[in-house]
Amino acid sequence: MVNTSDLMNRFQQAFPGSAPTLAVRAPGRVNLIGEHTDYNDGYVLPIAMSQCLYVMAAPADGDTIEVRSTAFADQPARFSAADPGEPDAPGMPSWSSYTRGVAAMLVKRGIRLQPSRLLIHSEVPIGGGVSSSAALEVGSGLALLTLAGQTMDPVELALLCQEAEHQYAHSPCGIMDQFICALGKEYYALLLDCRSREFEHIPMPFDNAVLLVMNTQVKHEIGGGEYGIRRRQCEQAVEVLKGRYPQIQSLRDVKPAMLFAQRQALDPLIFRRAQHVVTEIQRTTEAADALRHGRLEDFGALMFDSHQSLRDDYEVSCPELDALVEIAREVAGVYGARMTGGGFGGCAIALVEQGAVEALQSAIASEYNHRFEKPALVYPTTASEGARVQRL
Ligand code: GLA
Repeated sequence: MVNTSDLMNRFQQAFPGSAPTLAVRAPGRVNLIGEHTDYNDGYVLPIAMSQCLYVMAAPADGDTIEVRSTAFADQPARFSAADPGEPDAPGMPSWSSYTRGVAAMLVKRGIRLQPSRLLIHSEVPIGGGVSSSAALEVGSGLALLTLAGQTMDPVELALLCQEAEHQYAHSPCGIMDQFICALGKEYYALLLDCRSREFEHIPMPFDNAVLLVMNTQVKHEIGGGEYGIRRRQCEQAVEVLKGRYPQIQSLRDVKPAMLFAQRQALDPLIFRRAQHVVTEIQRTTEAADALRHGRLEDFGALMFDSHQSLRDDYEVSCPELDALVEIAREVAGVYGARMTGGGFGGCAIALVEQGAVEALQSAIASEYNHRFEKPALVYPTTASEGARVQRL
């Protein structure tokens, strides 16, 4: 399942004289639809991508966990297996806070971590808006658990990783990314109810269609303030709407008609934020239904609507993402396109008829690449398995 010989070599370069005993493969994620709904108790519909992050691991002598990354080769991290330390511990490279945070959460739950060496190698673009951080957390968690001779229910692991991201990376993320990384299924999308955490795997009827990822190469950072601001704006909307509908707990409980009836009570900006969320939750259940019945035209139309709502009402897009979606809209054979993930850069996706892939690629090459500083990287992806451990 893993091209281990290349990864083995990388491990031996990072840790001369030592050989890995296990490899963990942890996928990035592409959210098909349901954006900025997870922290509003709504629905999301992500897939685990075929592009993965790998954690190669081996037990070691001593009492520390040493972590290296091929992307930050000059910034190794070392911390105590018994006490991985507090968030923001001095001298720790920031990329390692995801692994260290997960280690700390595992210790907090009473798991005795083993001294070990870990090498991270990611083909999931870092800061690309396709959840390299959740892949790093879930991958690190599985590696550390396996070395400790333990297993954990994937939902529990996803929640633990989310907590690590909140506390150690200071990113107030929802549950989608860790969840799909742990629970993805090959050829299936995952419809997740972020309130009850009930989920359904829905087959992707994509015999004749391709899902393309279009990376703007504009760095996306959810720790940056805008994500937290959006979360607070949603809470503000709930506070005001509670005055009229005391039973509501979150925007999940608000139907579009309820929101429109209260338009005058809300600040116009807060209204638009809430409008995105309540309509996106509805679009997500409709899109799941379209997927169940193989109605790709309907699915694609919902993708375009989602993008527009994220761009105009939630204001989390950027000119590069908008340009990719507009270019895709003009190409015959494209069902739909939208930004995916937190926004402010990162990736857009397009659902495209097999025969139209080249036309879209050349439209991007001629209409996008000369307009922006960096060319868009375009590649296909498919729904793959969630994170898995392979013993070597
Ligand atoms: C980021 C977060 C997720 C989710 C998306 C937006 O990826 O990590 O929890 O909120 O943004 O849908």
